[in-house]
Amino acid sequence: MSARILATSPLVGDHLARLGGRFPELAVQPFRSPAWQDFLGEAEALVVLLSERLTEQDLAAAPKLRAVGTYSVGVDHLPLAACAARGIQVVHTPGVLTDATADLALALLMALARRVAEGEALVRSGQWRGWAPDQLLGRGLAGRRCAILGSGPIGRAFARRVWALGMVAEFWDREDRGGAVDFGPACGPRVPLEALLAAADVVSLHCPLTADTRGLLDRARLESLRPGTLLLNTARGGILDEAAAIELLHRGHLGGVGLDVYDGEPRLDPRWLQAPRAVLLPHLGSATVEARNAMAARLCDGLAGALSGPVLP
Ligand code: DGY
Repeated sequence: MSARILATSPLVGDHLARLGGRFPELAVQPFRSPAWQDFLGEAEALVVLLSERLTEQDLAAAPKLRAVGTYSVGVDHLPLAACAARGIQVVHTPGVLTDATADLALALLMALARRVAEGEALVRSGQWRGWAPDQLLGRGLAGRRCAILGSGPIGRAFARRVWALGMVAEFWDREDRGGAVDFGPACGPRVPLEALLAAADVVSLHCPLTADTRGLLDRARLESLRPGTLLLNTARGGILDEAAAIELLHRGHLGGVGLDVYDGEPRLDPRWLQAPRAVLLPHLGSATVEARNAMAARLCDGLAGALSGPVLP
């Protein structure tokens, strides 16, 4: 079997090496490096990371391409229409990072609600003078309404977690289908977006970034939130109007913002660094040993299938 596979980075575990064992012409070269560009013309499959924005021009420079694989569930960095037009198979990693990402959204929620980052900073500053009745008071979550934007696997996994805290999970999804979402231990209603936002105590984003969802949480929708609402984004930065969110934090309208993703990351709007009540993480949603291993396995199996039919033994 000879297919030329061009990856931009090693992956967690030995899956890429095993793929290389099956398809001996595997090269690992940094994205857009001269060596990567040189290999492109002969490549039959590409492996990229979510931070590497593949363009139609890249595809045009790769006439033999049969598959594009990304080490992520998100595919918003790929030229999907151009891949479809050329019959290039897109391989990604759904299903195996669901719990890891939902866990991280929960970590952001708890950090905001219980002021974990502020408490930690206080202890490290050496200024902590001991227990005080009104020190760093947070908020209880039981009984609060959690608006989950996106009713896919990660949104439902997050619903299970907030349900276990005694919160009420309610959903909106792009299809705006109505009816209820069964998330396992319970169901939550699908609610029209404006009504959902107007009643929420917590809003958590779990939809993919598409032409429909870019800028979904715009200034007007953020202003429609009740004062004190907590906002979480573990999906994609482009779904949120970050400039408006920063302003609304400064004005005290938003109760807190927890972010794992940013528009144009890793470049950050510098105002985030001064924003009050913001917890900022470096895109750690899938960053567990288990999830990253499973993602690599799924990706490499998918590529092997795309290039030859059967999956790796
Ligand atoms: C993905 O895989 O798309 C996630 O954003 C990783 O955290």
